[in-house]
Amino acid sequence: MRPRLRLMIPGPIEVAPEVLAVMAEPLVAHYGEDWTAFYKETTGLLQKIFRTEGDIFLLPGSGSAGLDAALGSTLFPNGKVLIPRNGFFGERLESIARSYTANVKTVDFPAGQAVDPVEVGEVLQSGDFDALACVHCETSTGVLNPIQQLATMCRSQGVLFIVDAVSSLAIEPLEMDAWGIDICISASQKGLEAPPGLGVVAVGKGGWDAIDRRRSPGWYLNLKVWREYADKWGDWHPYPVTQPVNNIKALRLGMERVLEEGLDKRFERHQKIAQKLRRGLAEIGFTPYVPDEIASHGVTSVLGGDIDIDQLLRYVREQERILLAGSLGELKGKVFRVGNMGLEATDEAIESVLAALRNGLQNARTP
Ligand SMILES: Cc1ncc(COP(=O)(O)O)c(C=O)c1O
Repeated sequence: MRPRLRLMIPGPIEVAPEVLAVMAEPLVAHYGEDWTAFYKETTGLLQKIFRTEGDIFLLPGSGSAGLDAALGSTLFPNGKVLIPRNGFFGERLESIARSYTANVKTVDFPAGQAVDPVEVGEVLQSGDFDALACVHCETSTGVLNPIQQLATMCRSQGVLFIVDAVSSLAIEPLEMDAWGIDICISASQKGLEAPPGLGVVAVGKGGWDAIDRRRSPGWYLNLKVWREYADKWGDWHPYPVTQPVNNIKALRLGMERVLEEGLDKRFERHQKIAQKLRRGLAEIGFTPYVPDEIASHGVTSVLGGDIDIDQLLRYVREQERILLAGSLGELKGKVFRVGNMGLEATDEAIESVLAALRNGLQNARTP
């Protein structure tokens, strides 16, 4: 069999062998005293990573399940929400929001640029909005949006603030409570170093106030239902459905790795490695698509220039056995992306990618 592809994409990411091994362990019941204690310890670790005292929910599904739960539970049927968009995942937030309310307004920024908090603030002030929802790391371009500034604005205007931290949690500094984020969403398969399968939702007091004012729709992704079970079945089965126990055990181990390293050290490591990648790309003739000051430290997008990106990525995949990502939407064919999250934020990983790209370029130039 050909060697497996090394994942250097912005999720799912490579996970440690011991985390993978947990996925093959014999099953346990998703309820009972021991399991419930384990589950609560696990959500406690997530509180540390989100830096919140809010409530944590693990939803079987993906990050989008968490986004759907957050937006549905706070906007249905007629909540008015402002969504700044600067890429594919901002558009995703908009699509989910529109499925619950007609009162959605967007403010658009060009792909590759960060959301401008001043412009967003002006729209917010003029519009009597209930909520602002924004992506932290816009994974389609690797732009970091100024979440802390947006949070401050929301606090001063009494507006609910929902953050998509799917590709930033445990990679970029994020302080849910200190900054004033009301609901924050992530997923298991990126910074948390676990396989895909769980959406993660953190809800603070402001989040619950907003949820309690609404007639949350549906059942499975209704955060009121999840809170009800956490309350009434808290001592043996604190959620409404069967949980994917091995995913939760793997997530727990992934998070232990994150916390063992220490969040601040981890942020520094990602910054250092992303900078090394950007320097290395420039040395072999590539231009990073996003300026340094607003660049994510877990995903880097790169302009292809006159290179045929599909051909380059195919070479790197087939000859070097490294999987890199293309892009989405309007950037498809123009930029490619390198993910260096968690285990792949190392000198060795970056050197391997740069060597593979160098070989790919040489191959493209050889007649
Ligand atoms: C910023 C962001 N939001 C949302 C999603 C959707 O997450 P999922 O595919 O886990 O539903 C992703 C996935 O890459 C993402 O990067």
